[in-house]
Order: sequence, then C-alpha cells, then structure tokens
Amino acid sequence: MEFLGMTTIFLLVCISCLLLFTTWRSISQKEKQPPGPIALPIVGNLLQLNPWNLPESLKKLSKKYGPVFTISLGPQKAVVLYGYDVVKEALVDQAEDFSGRGSLPLIEKLFQGTGIVTSNGETWKQLRRFALTTLRDFGMGKKSIEERIQEEANFLVERIRNTHERPFNPSNFLVHAVSNIICSVVFGDRFDYEDKKFLTLINLLDENDKLQNSIQTQVCTLYNFFPTVMEYLPGPHKKMIKNTEKVDQFTLEIIAEHQETLDPTCPRDFIDAFLNKMEQEKGNGHSEFTVETLSRSTLDLFLAGTGTTSTTLRHGLLILQKFPEIVEKIQKEIDHVIGRNRSPCMADRSQMPYTDAVVHEIQRFIDFLPLNVPHAVVRDTKFRDYFIPKNTMIIPTLNSILHDSKEFPNPEKFDPGHFLNANGTFKKSDYFMPFSVGKRMCAGEGLARMELFIFLTAILQNFTLKPVVDHKDIDISPFVSTLANTPRPYEVSFLPR
Ligand code: HEM
Ligand SMILES: *[C@@H]1O[C@H](CO)[C@@H](O)[C@H](O)[C@H]1NC(C)=O
Ligand SMILES: *[C@@H]1O[C@H](CO)[C@@H](O)[C@H](O)[C@H]1NC(C)=O
Repeated sequence: MEFLGMTTIFLLVCISCLLLFTTWRSISQKEKQPPGPIALPIVGNLLQLNPWNLPESLKKLSKKYGPVFTISLGPQKAVVLYGYDVVKEALVDQAEDFSGRGSLPLIEKLFQGTGIVTSNGETWKQLRRFALTTLRDFGMGKKSIEERIQEEANFLVERIRNTHERPFNPSNFLVHAVSNIICSVVFGDRFDYEDKKFLTLINLLDENDKLQNSIQTQVCTLYNFFPTVMEYLPGPHKKMIKNTEKVDQFTLEIIAEHQETLDPTCPRDFIDAFLNKMEQEKGNGHSEFTVETLSRSTLDLFLAGTGTTSTTLRHGLLILQKFPEIVEKIQKEIDHVIGRNRSPCMADRSQMPYTDAVVHEIQRFIDFLPLNVPHAVVRDTKFRDYFIPKNTMIIPTLNSILHDSKEFPNPEKFDPGHFLNANGTFKKSDYFMPFSVGKRMCAGEGLARMELFIFLTAILQNFTLKPVVDHKDIDISPFVSTLANTPRPYEVSFLPR
C-alpha cells in the first residue's frame, strides 16, 4: 500500500513537472516577452524606478536591456520603447496595433475615459475624427484661427506693456492667452482677461497645473501605482479630481446656453458643431455623440491644449533671457521680414529660418512630455521578436528621440544650430517629435505651433527681455516630474523696443 502511494505521488510529480516544462517552453518560445528587471510582487520595479525622475531611470534600464523592455509599475506591466527606430516602428509601421491609450489611473480619473485623450475603440475613432475636421472647419490650419491668435497676441502684448517694465512672473498672462484661443474655438469667443467666469475657469485649470507640478505630485505617481490605496488617502490628487469636476460643471452650463441659442444652419463653434452632430445621429441607438462626450471632449481640449502650450512659451521665455544674442538675431529677422508696422503671421515663418529653428529648439530642448502619453496595444501583438499581450501599456518615450545624441550633437545644450544648415536655411529633422507620431499624435499640433510662433514673435517684436539675475546664472534645465518637464519659476521684465 505504502509503495503504491509513493509511486503515485512520484508519477504525479513527474507528470506535473513535464506539463509545467512544456507549457513553459511553449510560452517562452512562442511568446517571448521583452526583457526587463525582475519585478517584486505588488511593488513591481519600484526599487529600480526613481519616481522623482522616471525618464532618467528608463534611460539607465535601456542601456542594460536594449530599446524594448518591460517594467512593472506596481502591479501593472508596461513595455518601454526607447529610441527613434522602435518608436517609429511601433507607432507608424504598426500604427493600428499600437493605437490604444494606456490607462494611468490618475489620468483616467481626470479625463474619465470618454473624451478624445483617454477613450479607445470606436468612441475614440469617431471623437478624434470629428475633433480634427471640426477644428479644421473653424480655421485650425486656416486663416480664421490665425487671426484669432494674432488678435490674442495683441491683447497679450498690450497687457505686458501695462506692467511698465516691472519684473513679474509671466505664467498667468501666458495661460490666459493660450486658454483664450481654446475658448474662442470651443465656446465661440475669447473672454476679457478680467472676466469673472473666465478667471474661475482658469484658476481651476491653473490649480491643477500647479498641483501637477508640485513636489507633492510624486504622490500622484504613487496614485498611479496604487490606485486602490490612494483612493482612501488625502492628497493633491483629491483636489485635482474635485477641480476637474468643477470645470466639467462650467462646461455643462455653457453647453446648455448653446443649446438654447443654437442656429443649426450657422454653427458658431466646436460646441454648436457637436450639437448638430448629436441631432444628426438622433435615430442612431448608440451614438458616440452625447452631451457627456461633448463635455469631456471640450474639457480634453482645455486640459491637453492649455498647460502644454503655455508652459512651452514660459520655458521659452526663460531660455531666451539666458541668450540675449539669440534674441537679437530673432529681432533682426523680425525687423527684416515683418517690420514694425504689422502683426506677425504664419506666412512669415518660411522667411524666418532662424526664428523657426529657435522655436523648434525650444520644444526639443524642454522635452515637455519625456515619456509621451501612455499607449496600449489593442490586440495581441508581435513586435520585432517579441510577443506583447493585448492591452499591455506601452510607453513610447520621446526624450530618447528629442535628446538623441547622433541626431542632435550635445543634446543637453540649447543650440538653434540643431535645426539650421550651414548656409542658414532651416534644417528639418525626422527626430523632431514633441507631438509624438502616428494615429494618436497630438490633435492640436497645428494650433500649438501657430500659437508658439505668433506669440513669441509678437512679444519679441515689441519687447526685449530683461532678467532679474545675471543671464549667465539662469538655470534653464527643466524641473523633471513624472509626466511633464517644467521650467524653474522666474520673474522677468519686458522693455519696450
Ligand atoms: C506645445 C504644445 C503641445 C504639445 C507638446 C503636445 C503634445 C502632445 C502629445 C505628446 C500627445 C500624445 C500623443 C500620443 O499619444 O502619441 C498629445 C495628445 C493630444 N493633444 Fe497635444 N500637445 C500640445 C498642444 C495641444 C493643443 C493646443 C491641443 C488642443 C487643441 C492638443 C490636443 C491634444 C489631444 C486632443 C490629444 C489626444 C489625441 C488622441 O489621443 O488621439 N494638444 N499632445
Ligand atoms: C507691437 O509692435 C508692433 C510693431 O511695432 C505694432 O504694430 C503693434 O501695435 C504692437 N502691439 C501692441 C499691442 O502695442
Ligand atoms: C543650404 O544647404 C542645404 C543643405 O546643406 C541645401 O539643401 C540647400 O539647398 C542650401 N540652400 C541654399 C539656398 O543654398
């Protein structure tokens, strides 16, 4: 009896070993997943990832594991793509596979998954297509929006003039100008800078921005790793979520006003166009166009369009203070091409290679979203020799491209020469990817680039920048946080030319 028992156990052990071995073989052969550091239960690779500087940690890991590797953010696995070749192969050559949006719990909480930025599948396809065409109809990439930006640039310059050379932190002015462009596209008109409603809206957005950029925000990183624990803890994430709800409320009120005054034959703005689309799809049982997706899409445009563009301008103005010789060259070009009697326009850009190069270099240097916005694979995907299971989060890094040392020698140095030929003409680079690339690429690229060019040239047409410290002591390196790079706080005075 005892002998029989032992044999059975022995046999069972043998069979299970065999089974384990064969499944392990088939998994490891057919489904070789990208390499990476060994993850501990629950915390994953938290020990290898410095939450204070995630981009730097990923750079280190890429040296060890190559351009495609796996990390574990808490319990969540993510595949990191590091460098131009792999990012392009994934987002362009295998665009459909990699077109999903990965979900970081905090981003999800803020954007709620129903707008353009965080949705997936059919909802995302329809909302994105609608947003792109509607924004184009309202002049995105066309003249009318350009005129709106020129008009706003005039208001901005006027407002700066009223500071009478006193040093101040230009952050609010830039945020107001930039969000007014979105207001004008979405709500139909800009607001006066003193308008109470406008200021309430901006304060909410601004507060979120500050919270996001505050030291405490590393708490938010933790929120991303441990959403269920963080749900029960106080912290900036709670406030951010509350603020976002208030902005939502604000948008819903404006939508209601639009519904009352809508003339379907003559849409005034993004909201009107969306309401028309809702009416068209009324018979359709499961339309993607509802008041809810309208409100979320509107909020998405604000959240995605304001902080990004205004921070780029703010960082740009800090960098320009450090290099008065660069400002002089830009002003020479302005005087030569535009003169002093009219506003800058986009047609000027092709004749202003130096200014164009500086604007590109600002975006390259500051590397605003070093880790891009997380993607996901929408199906089981073969990539190079690896197998990546459906829904895996993908981090297609941008810092690895914008700071590539072969394409941009001395990548940590600010040098407009990165975008200039020896003969002074503008030098294009495929590595210029601050807006990402592929199907998820920034939906506001055209708008953002117009704003950057027109606002910066309008400011330098009218003012010279005077730093409050010796320009040699200015630290232009970004303050790195998890999701976005921001400039160090500063004050500056604007001297009329
Ligand atoms: C300097 C300014 C800006 C930068 C650097 C920037 C950068 C980016 C990046 C890196 C992404 C993620 C792309 C990806 O997932 O592959 C993105 C997405 C997006 N951006 Fe921008 N952006 C800027 C301005 C704007 C503006 C002004 C708008 C609004 C009109 C906007 C609207 C969006 C939207 C809607 C998405 C989501 C696209 C999607 O998921 O399909 N962005 N942006
Ligand atoms: C900025 O300067 C240009 C050229 O000198 C001038 O036409 C424009 O009126 C100025 N803008 C403001 C708001 O003063
Ligand atoms: C300037 O140099 C670039 C690249 O070296 C060349 O493609 C371009 O034709 C040149 N342009 C002029 C005007 O010389």
